[in-house]
Amino acid sequence: MKTKWISSREFSASPGRALAAVRRAGRVLVTGHGKPRAIMIPTSEEALASDLERLDRADSERGDPAAGASAAPINVSDYARMAPERMSKMAWGYFEGGAGDEHTARWNMEAYARIRLRPRCLVDVSKIDLRTALLGRELPFPILVAPTAYQRLAHPDGELATVGGANATGATMVVSTQANTPLEEVAAAATVPLWFQLYVQLDRDFTSSLVRRAEAAGYKALVLTVDAPVLGARDREQRTNFTLPPGLDRANLRGLAAAKGSQRPSEDSIFSGALDPGVTWKDIDWLRSLTSMPVLLKGVMTGEDAGRAVDSGISGIVVSNHGGRTLDTLPPTLEVLPEIVAKVAGRVPVLVDGGIRRGTDILKALGLGAAAVLIGRPTIYGLAVGGADGVAHVINILRRELALAMALTGRTSIAAIDGSVIWRPGE
Ligand code: FNR
Repeated sequence: MKTKWISSREFSASPGRALAAVRRAGRVLVTGHGKPRAIMIPTSEEALASDLERLDRADSERGDPAAGASAAPINVSDYARMAPERMSKMAWGYFEGGAGDEHTARWNMEAYARIRLRPRCLVDVSKIDLRTALLGRELPFPILVAPTAYQRLAHPDGELATVGGANATGATMVVSTQANTPLEEVAAAATVPLWFQLYVQLDRDFTSSLVRRAEAAGYKALVLTVDAPVLGARDREQRTNFTLPPGLDRANLRGLAAAKGSQRPSEDSIFSGALDPGVTWKDIDWLRSLTSMPVLLKGVMTGEDAGRAVDSGISGIVVSNHGGRTLDTLPPTLEVLPEIVAKVAGRVPVLVDGGIRRGTDILKALGLGAAAVLIGRPTIYGLAVGGADGVAHVINILRRELALAMALTGRTSIAAIDGSVIWRPGE
């Protein structure tokens, strides 16, 4: 990506011309007072102008003209701080929120911070290999883009920008049933493998056609989400009266009433029209009969269910509590992972998501037996701040941080990461 240097004074003098130059360049390094201040991936003139305004404000508050340099996003938390400024309060509440008091959403992240690492020294780390195999394919690194709904609320190009970011890095992307872009259009823009995330609809014929459409469009796996037979108690969404704005719909569900509108249950019900609360283990056979794609279950949180999933012929498990968005006070996924890994005993790959914000988090998940991880909100932050470039940057930040963590613990390949990378006092 080319980088365009621009001074904040130059921008204020002629925003239109500056923005045209920026668009051609892709990324802009803002300078002021003779020093670099921030790298930005602008999505619009207004967004760039508001970033510059923020920089100026931060500078004057600190009384330090170069202090704005810290505004350049260099880690996932930086993106998380910048993202809410790029969207409505309603959209931010939707993306960032969790269920209830958001304990689980927070615990997911805190669980990683509680675990300490155990480094080995004097290992030749001049080559670090992040490649790994999953469901018979090679991944360049063990990070996938988690399925998240309504991406056009975060960026006008929505899922197409996210797949652009995935393409730029080689990451496999999981596309949500509740995308704002039809699954075929995402597939047409993809150069990376795609998986399709399925919410079973009340209309089973429609559900079958959705699965067939995904297979016909070239999707490589089907991820059945099993932790959301009903929507969680989303207080933030209720407060902002969350609904899809005009012009946005659940594009994959066109033809169903559930394609439009809020789909939040009314106050005297817990059911929404967009999810079938009656899905059971019996439906797994039915789903597997519809497709030759491998079927994974996402949202498994106990050893019992993991064992049953394997017995049902499932090809993989995603340990997930939906980023803390379904049932509050579920344990963090990292703490459930060992129980599930033990039960599955290597028969199918176990993936995990929820709370991953650092490369060290990924190393810990792999150390506890995960085959790969998925990232949900981090991709949304990148998407909101910088479209496809922002998504690619977030993935690359995590990829690089993982490589760093591997080098500093003396693990040069994914296969070399095992339980001994986790520090267990007293053992
Ligand atoms: C989700 N998630 C989700 N999962 C799914 O199976 N289908 C979906 O449509 C969505 N939609 C969705 C929207 C938003 C805004 C978020 C934040 C999450 C859950 C997602 O796939 C994943 O499990 C979590 O996001 C992982 O947690 P982190 O990475 O966000 O902490």
